[in-house]
Amino acid sequence: MVFAATVLPFVGLFTAFLVAAAPNSQLCARGQSVVDSTPTCKATASPQAFQPASFNVSKWIWTGENLTPGGNNIVSTRPLRKNITTPCDKCAVCATIVIASDDASTVYINGVRIGTGGAPRQGQALFAALQPTWNLIAIAGQNTVANSAAGVLATILVHYSDGTTGTFITDESWRTLSTAPPANFQLPSVDDSSWAFAAVQGTFQNSVWVQPTLPPVLPLTGSNWIWTSDNVGGNAPVGSRAFRKTINQCAKVAVCATVLISADNHYTLYVNGATVGSGSSFSAADAYTIPNLLPTFNTFAINATNDAGPAGVIATILITYRDGSNETVVTDGSWKSSLTLPQGFASSSFDDSAWQNAKVVGAYGVSPWGGALTIPRA
Ligand SMILES: *[C@@H]1O[C@H](CO)[C@@H](O)[C@H](O)[C@H]1NC(C)=O
Ligand SMILES: *[C@@H]1O[C@H](CO)[C@@H](O)[C@H](O)[C@H]1NC(C)=O
Ligand SMILES: *[C@@H]1O[C@H](CO)[C@@H](O)[C@H](O)[C@H]1NC(C)=O
Ligand SMILES: *[C@@H]1O[C@H](CO)[C@@H](O)[C@H](O)[C@H]1NC(C)=O
Repeated sequence: MVFAATVLPFVGLFTAFLVAAAPNSQLCARGQSVVDSTPTCKATASPQAFQPASFNVSKWIWTGENLTPGGNNIVSTRPLRKNITTPCDKCAVCATIVIASDDASTVYINGVRIGTGGAPRQGQALFAALQPTWNLIAIAGQNTVANSAAGVLATILVHYSDGTTGTFITDESWRTLSTAPPANFQLPSVDDSSWAFAAVQGTFQNSVWVQPTLPPVLPLTGSNWIWTSDNVGGNAPVGSRAFRKTINQCAKVAVCATVLISADNHYTLYVNGATVGSGSSFSAADAYTIPNLLPTFNTFAINATNDAGPAGVIATILITYRDGSNETVVTDGSWKSSLTLPQGFASSSFDDSAWQNAKVVGAYGVSPWGGALTIPRA
């Protein structure tokens, strides 16, 4: 039985932490895994609409120092660890992690610090590249208020190379210690097999906490509406315009991208010449996951079309790198723009060196679009 996939009713919680979690049942026989012999896998999946990670099946966990689920705990920092393993016919590429914590947390994957978790009522979304066969998730949870409930609630949505996803949650199969995290507790080389199992403090649906909300998948704040030079005073001629941005961090290996985009009036987004998606709303943004970035050069191209009057396109792109870092790229005056759409304009090999830089119409929030676009939640 895969205990991790079982959702316990709340009445089961009081005994849940006494039950030893079943051993991991996803181990592959030698030669069975498609990625046994390869350090990374090549994603064959196409870009897809962003899939939310969602807290809804996850559980609040802590050490069990207080035997009552959701009971008060001392001011403390506690280690929580889980080795999430890839089903043997799959290859993990990258993950969305959503995490809420009472009161704070720091998240590490395979020993690398990825970011910090959100507050009890406001989850945080993190994006990270993964190893193909297994990934060690380590969290330092902090209870900063004396005699108060303590817990961490997280969901890890894993994108596999074939375009499917897997969901992993915080539950009673995680390992923990009722002490401060030992030195280097986040490293895969630390053996946690003698640590205790985590104690469930409640489910997302039923706990002493108010159900945490999730932030927008990415912010538009910090990004800009851009257009071509023929946008004067916010208005532009009717027609389609081309925009391009090539991202190249030559010392790093790019893995996945998450893109948030909106246009007045229509856009079609391409990555390395392949169509990602289209949209036609300037009051809502669309989000996509690109699981198949190239290691170094990646070209984002947009065909944006104006029907009348105000014209603009706005995007925020988050790239995850193999070393655990990420980079945010926004539409700005560094994008290239063209009044025409030449044959092959979206391809990565197209030469845009003669194109003009895009014209910044205004930062996100500027009239007539304002600062309240509908953005999908992480
Ligand atoms: C949890 O959320 C996901 C994504 O929004 C949804 O597909 C699923 O049906 C939900 N499950 C439950 C048990 O609410
Ligand atoms: C990007 O990396 C920074 C630095 O580690 C981290 O603080 C931030 O949360 C990360 N952003 C996402 C969305 O993962
Ligand atoms: C995670 O599990 C896999 C599969 O059993 C194993 O090969 C790997 O060494 C484990 N990693 C850690 C850090 O425990
Ligand atoms: C650009 O988008 C417009 C509106 O969807 C479409 O009519 C036009 O054919 C597209 N042009 C190219 C070159 O893809």
